[in-house]
Amino acid sequence: MSIYRAIWRRSLEDPEGFWAEAAEALHWDRRWDRVLDSSRPPFYRWFTGGMLNTCWNAVDRHVVAGRGAQPALIHDSPVSGTICTLTYAELQDAVARFAGALVRLGTRKGDRVIVYMPMVPEAIVAMLACARIGAIHSVVFGGFASHELAKRIDDAKPTLVVSASCGIEPGRVVAYKPLLDAAIDQAKHKPRHCIVLQRPQLRAELVPGRDLDWQEAVAGAHAVDCVPVAATDPLYILYTSGTTGQPKGIVRDNGGHAVALLWSMRNIYGVQPGEVYWAASDVGWVVGHSYICYAPLLNGNTTVVYEGKPVGTPDPGAFWRVIAQHDVKVLFTAPTAFRAIRKEDPEGAYLKRYDLSRFRALFLAGERCDPDTLLWAEAQLGVPVIDHWWQTETGWAICANPLGVERLPVKPGSPTLPMPGYDVRVLNEEGREVEPGKLGAICVKLPLPPSCLPTLWNADDRFVQSYLSRYPGYYLTGDAGFVDEDGYLFIMSRIDDVINVAGHRLSTGAIEEVLASHKDVAECAVIGVADELKGELPLGFIVLKAGVDRPHGEIEKELVQKVRDEIGPVAAFKLVAVVKRLPKTRSGKILRGTMKKIADGAPWTIPATIDDPAILDEIVEALARLGYPRRTRG
Ligand code: COA
Ligand code: AMP
Repeated sequence: MSIYRAIWRRSLEDPEGFWAEAAEALHWDRRWDRVLDSSRPPFYRWFTGGMLNTCWNAVDRHVVAGRGAQPALIHDSPVSGTICTLTYAELQDAVARFAGALVRLGTRKGDRVIVYMPMVPEAIVAMLACARIGAIHSVVFGGFASHELAKRIDDAKPTLVVSASCGIEPGRVVAYKPLLDAAIDQAKHKPRHCIVLQRPQLRAELVPGRDLDWQEAVAGAHAVDCVPVAATDPLYILYTSGTTGQPKGIVRDNGGHAVALLWSMRNIYGVQPGEVYWAASDVGWVVGHSYICYAPLLNGNTTVVYEGKPVGTPDPGAFWRVIAQHDVKVLFTAPTAFRAIRKEDPEGAYLKRYDLSRFRALFLAGERCDPDTLLWAEAQLGVPVIDHWWQTETGWAICANPLGVERLPVKPGSPTLPMPGYDVRVLNEEGREVEPGKLGAICVKLPLPPSCLPTLWNADDRFVQSYLSRYPGYYLTGDAGFVDEDGYLFIMSRIDDVINVAGHRLSTGAIEEVLASHKDVAECAVIGVADELKGELPLGFIVLKAGVDRPHGEIEKELVQKVRDEIGPVAAFKLVAVVKRLPKTRSGKILRGTMKKIADGAPWTIPATIDDPAILDEIVEALARLGYPRRTRG
């Protein structure tokens, strides 16, 4: 039996023994009473009774162990033309003093702190400072606009927001503060204070009495120590898109999270303490939480905080420059980034300019990895390229190829096999397991392993209803796919209204809500259509209210701007078409699937349940106006 298989088997047969052993790699202020607490199914808890501090384990512990002078974090920012390094000792000092500033402003254990920041070291400092004092951070991605931020403020009810004057996108400085001010105006809940990092590219106006300059906030603040918290206490809330416009507040605990993440660094990514590890993502996403901030630091690595893009900052050699310059051993990013690089540098000319001889592996996740991209990356880099599959909900890989344990054969298009604790099953409508090769809903048998969401913030019922009620005893991942004869999993699509745009998870429902609130819109439907670069793009069909006779182009422009203003530029919503009617079933259900097939050029037929087949011809024409070839039905 392979080493991987033996480990995985053991994790399912003896979960308590397996995870207790993994937990020994951390410092505990108090050992747990129970490894797995199954007393209140379907709510499972890991390491109940245990006390620890995630910040201590990620930072202070390494200083005590002699890593104080090792770089903990390298901020590489081609968009601002700066590179700076913080050693573990410097990070400890910055975090302890910022934690002191939080405490001085009245932040207590259990309080929520929203972090709305670009990719600067201070974002990591703010997250760790919250962890240090037991406050619960909720990072909101900078590409979301005010309305989305306001939703998160109202749900998390933060006492404080940490932000920055601006983010820097290629070619433009994005003023964050006006977005934050507008969000606080919109939100019912009002945070007491905002701490604002003033960046040299743009200074923000501060609201007297409410806002503090970062420097002013830390000036004279005392360094505070780590506060032990319960393993089951929340470390953070991270909002993610669901079926409706109301994002789901994924809760992450302290104990299980630290245990699983530390295990993953050594065993999945195969990195040793002291090595440089780089996740080219954003702290606003789960990849950023787990693999820019927590996991590399828990493992004593140097983490790279990259403020730039794969292309255009300044060229498609940006990633290779960072790898060579900082001696990165393992890179983790989304396939989109590689599609963007390949598009601009198909022959890998830029790659040849850098010495990548010490680079060991590339990991890809966040969206489906098309075999073409995987094979191209492999051929260019000459190192293992590993597709792995996970979600905000889990915080670490459900399926992967565990390079630190054993390099399993790669099958392009598959994220390989389940990781410890994940008993993955593909189920049909009736809840029965399907045979290899057959599509079904991908589920994980309960209990989920450590780090996976114990619940949704203040919404136990929604947690059960969203994930656990469809198939009792199983967690519904929301993805559909199949396993092959060797047990390799293939993720094919989502079963809900979530789409994946450049590795960013978005809800078509949220975009529809924005479109529907336009004064001229009677009805709308948003679908995700295939895109060569970003994987998927949102496309909206609009039916106007009777009597609206303004030019359609004008209304379409307003709708694009409205989504940008309310959800944010990250939605990349640019495709919209006015149609007379939407195709529906006789019972009134919009036929999104058929519209998607038409746009994607997939074979399509007229559904038997359709109300009026002629409407589909109109959809074909609307798509043709947007540049999609006219497809006849197959
Ligand atoms: N703050 C403000 N605006 C932001 C932002 C941020 N933090 N991040 C992105 N945006 C804006 C961009 O400027 C862009 O605006 P535009 O419409 O004015 O051009 C828009 O949001 C879409 O951004 P993005 O998805 O990054 O697309 P892009 O066209 O700028 O770049 C890629 C394309 C492929 C280079 C880019 O998507 C990429 O690097 N993807 C990697 C995927 C990734 O990291 N995923 C995270 C999960 S692992
Ligand atoms: P997020 O919660 O933003 O990380 O998005 C999670 C979703 O992204 C998953 O449910 C999948 O739909 C998709 N996803 C992530 N990784 C992969 C992968 N390796 N292959 C296919 N889909 C993926």
